[in-house]
Amino acid sequence: DVPILTIDGPSGSGKGTISRIVAQRLGWHYLDSGALYRAVGVAAGWANADLSDPAALARLARDTVIEFRTDGSAEPRVLVDGTDATDELRTETAGAAASAIAAVPEVRAALFQKQRDFLRPPGLVADGRDMGTVVFPEAAHKVFLSASAEERARRRHKQLSDKGLEVTIDVLLREIQARDARDAQRVVAPLKAAPDAVLVDSTGIPVEAVVERVLAMVTS
Ligand code: CDP
Repeated sequence: DVPILTIDGPSGSGKGTISRIVAQRLGWHYLDSGALYRAVGVAAGWANADLSDPAALARLARDTVIEFRTDGSAEPRVLVDGTDATDELRTETAGAAASAIAAVPEVRAALFQKQRDFLRPPGLVADGRDMGTVVFPEAAHKVFLSASAEERARRRHKQLSDKGLEVTIDVLLREIQARDARDAQRVVAPLKAAPDAVLVDSTGIPVEAVVERVLAMVTS
């Protein structure tokens, strides 16, 4: 059996960073499931799709070709129907579109198989919201990564100011709290830890220490 490590958690918990490094250290494949939702959200925008038409969105989720190109650099380029959409996928607009289409059960069902297809030897690190609960429930290693809302707002603030964007931590904190509430309360795939997940709180813990902790779980 191909080993699987799932890393789920809220926005800004550091899942993406931790998952990428852990996958690289283990030499395993990496699934960024959020990027799939973002890609379908962006494709829906390009196609002017009707966001209230589940069948149309499901078709888009099924038919959109999403490719990850790793050219040796840390972050892969993401091609959506052949177009490099890497930068567009990172925008707040794409995040909001992802969150909207992610609430459509038909979209989640259509992306299920695309996500399962990432499972190949020698192993997989799957990053998202429902990796350990829905997509890879059989995974032997499950992490639920969290951090306080204040810490996540600080991290986001640093990311943005590194890019020269000025937003106050207060505004970001309110956005994060609103998103947490939406993600936890939504009827479709509410964010929750798998019963067999190990809870890791990364508040105040350096990336390297979190990576070591997760690696220890997998290799012990
Ligand atoms: O950084 P953040 O966690 O906000 O973004 P992401 O992981 O790229 O996911 C974008 C959005 O897609 C999230 O807000 C979720 O609503 C949705 N999503 C989901 O429903 N299920 C997943 N497995 C991954 C993402």
